[in-house]
Amino acid sequence: MRIIDQLDEWRRVRRSEEIGQKSVGLVPTMGNLHAGHRSLLERCRRDNDLVVMTLFVNPVQFDDPRDLSSYPRTFEADVERADEWGVDFLLTPAPESVYPDGYRFRVTESELSKRFCGKHRPGHFDGVLTVVMKLLNLVRADRAYFGEKDFQQFLLVREMARSFFLETEIVPCPIIRDRDGLALSSRNSRLFPEQREIAARFPRILAMPGSCEDIKAQLEAAGFGVDYVEDYEGRRLAAVRIGNVRLIDNFPLRK
Ligand code: PAF
Repeated sequence: MRIIDQLDEWRRVRRSEEIGQKSVGLVPTMGNLHAGHRSLLERCRRDNDLVVMTLFVNPVQFDDPRDLSSYPRTFEADVERADEWGVDFLLTPAPESVYPDGYRFRVTESELSKRFCGKHRPGHFDGVLTVVMKLLNLVRADRAYFGEKDFQQFLLVREMARSFFLETEIVPCPIIRDRDGLALSSRNSRLFPEQREIAARFPRILAMPGSCEDIKAQLEAAGFGVDYVEDYEGRRLAAVRIGNVRLIDNFPLRK
């Protein structure tokens, strides 16, 4: 695995014979790698000659500075895992090189990004779409992989790619869950043991039949703060809070 932290160097490599006509897959991450990322990398490996992973904690997608400062950073362990899990190129750029303009230019979406998570996290999806646009332009991958846990993010990225005629295919990958059903997320590591136990009730309640209002009431009764439970594009989407940890999840709606 080659680790590249300078974007100029990466751009030279991308143009070189080393990559040439080989197909390239991209897995964008913010680190703190877990089995969910591993499944994205495995799918990427199956579909492409080369696997590029980016590890970049994107400051502009954090609407709350406390969330940015408490975001789990596990650089050494991530590098080891990326190598073990078959990454060919690991890009770890500094924020100043990703935002040489200081975030003057950004991608804004005016409809879906304002709903669900976007309603509770102003500016979050502009930050996500802007960094993903930059990463897609830098890597020029044939395919890029996004987990369906962040379903709203996946939809927005796919629609942005279509809208801007980007060449990269946006590939959705299924949610990976812990043994008790909780969707894997870097944020789970911030839960205290007793919160982690309560968290396991989130997917169980969300997958139950009933109206969004019923499910919201049941989540509240189980001790969650509920940002929303809503049906969209054949899925039931929800975000809840336990202490200062925010969890999201979704399930396909029963026919
Ligand atoms: O899902 C994530 O980890 C991030 O939102 C992403 C896509 C890497 C952009 O920073």
